[in-house]
Amino acid sequence: MASQSQSQSQSQSQSQSQSQSQSASRPAVLVTRAIFPDVIERLAQYFDVDHNQPDVPLDAAALKARLAGKAGVLSNAADRIDADLIGALPQLRAVCNMAVGYNNLDLPALTAAGIVATNTPDVLTETTADFGWALLMATARRVTESEHFLRAGKWERWSYDMFLGMDLHGSTLGILGMGRIGQALARRAAGFGMTVLYHNRSQLPAEIEQGLGARYVGKAELLRESDHLMLVLPYSEQSHHAIGAAELAQMKPTATLINLARGGIVDDAALAAALREKRLFAAGLDVFEGEPKVHPALLEVPNVVLTPHIASASEKTRRAMANLAADNLIAALGAGPDAGRPPCALNPEVLARR
Ligand code: GLV
Repeated sequence: MASQSQSQSQSQSQSQSQSQSQSASRPAVLVTRAIFPDVIERLAQYFDVDHNQPDVPLDAAALKARLAGKAGVLSNAADRIDADLIGALPQLRAVCNMAVGYNNLDLPALTAAGIVATNTPDVLTETTADFGWALLMATARRVTESEHFLRAGKWERWSYDMFLGMDLHGSTLGILGMGRIGQALARRAAGFGMTVLYHNRSQLPAEIEQGLGARYVGKAELLRESDHLMLVLPYSEQSHHAIGAAELAQMKPTATLINLARGGIVDDAALAAALREKRLFAAGLDVFEGEPKVHPALLEVPNVVLTPHIASASEKTRRAMANLAADNLIAALGAGPDAGRPPCALNPEVLARR
C-alpha cells in the first residue's frame, strides 16, 4: 500500500507540474487508467492532461478528488460515474468511455447535468466476435481443461474417450442480444454450418435476418434449443441475472454457455452449481460479477474456461478504441477537426443544447 500511495502522489505531482508549465486557459482532463503513451500525447496537444500511467487503482474518493476542476475524463468501463460524483463536479463537460458498454455511466444524470457521454462502438465488433469464437471453441472442445491435464504431467497414453467435447459444426447456436457483436457472431456461424437462433429486445428486419441466416425466437425457445448459447446483450437492471438458476434449468445438459457481455448478466453462483452438477456441459466466461474477483465456486469446476475480460484485446483494436475515446474527448470539449461533434455521442441532445 505504501508504494501505491507513493506512486500515486508521484503521478499527481508529475501531472500537476505538467499542468503548471502549460497555459492556464487549456481545459484540464483526466485519463483514469494507463493507456498507450501516444494517446496521452495526442490529448496533450489540446488539454492539460492528468494521467495515471502508473495505473494506480482509483477508488470512488480518489476518482472524485482527481476529477475536481477537470472539464473531461477518458474513463474505463470499471470507473463508476454516478449521480453523486456528477453532482460534485460542476465543471465536468465530457465523459468518454473507452468501451462499447457504458453501464458504468449514469446516462440520465449526465444528460441532466449537460455532460456529453461517449463510447467506442464498431471498432471492436469483429475482434470481440473473433474472441467469442475462440472462447466457444475452447469451451466446447475442452481446450484449456485438456492443456492443464497435459501440463500437469497426467498424459500417459491416448484413449478413445479422453476429453470428449461437443461439436460446433451442424449444431444450433443461440445468440441472446443481436446488436453489432451478435450479428458478427452469426456471420461466423455460417462457416460452421450452424443453425442460428436469436432473441433480442426487438426483431431485426427480415432482410437482415435473411442475410445472417438467423431466426428470431422467444427466450424460452432459445434456452431450450441452443447447443451453444452466447450472451452479447448490454447490462442493465433489466438484464441483471438474465441467466439464473431458472434459465439454466431450461438449457440442455449438453449445452455450452458463453458470456462475452458483462458480469451480472449471469448469476455466477447458479452457473457454478449447474456446471458442478453437470446440468450444463461447460461454460466460457470473459466477464464476471464483481470482477476482477471471480466467484470461488467457478474456480473449483473444471468445465469452465475463464479469461480476464480480454474480448476486445487485440493490439490493433485496443489502439483503435483508445484513439476513438480520445477523438470523442477532443471533439466533445470543442477542439480538433470535429470540434463540437464527438463521433460517438450517447446523449447528442446535450450537444444540441450547447
Ligand atoms: C468491453 O467490455 C467493452 O464494453 O468495450
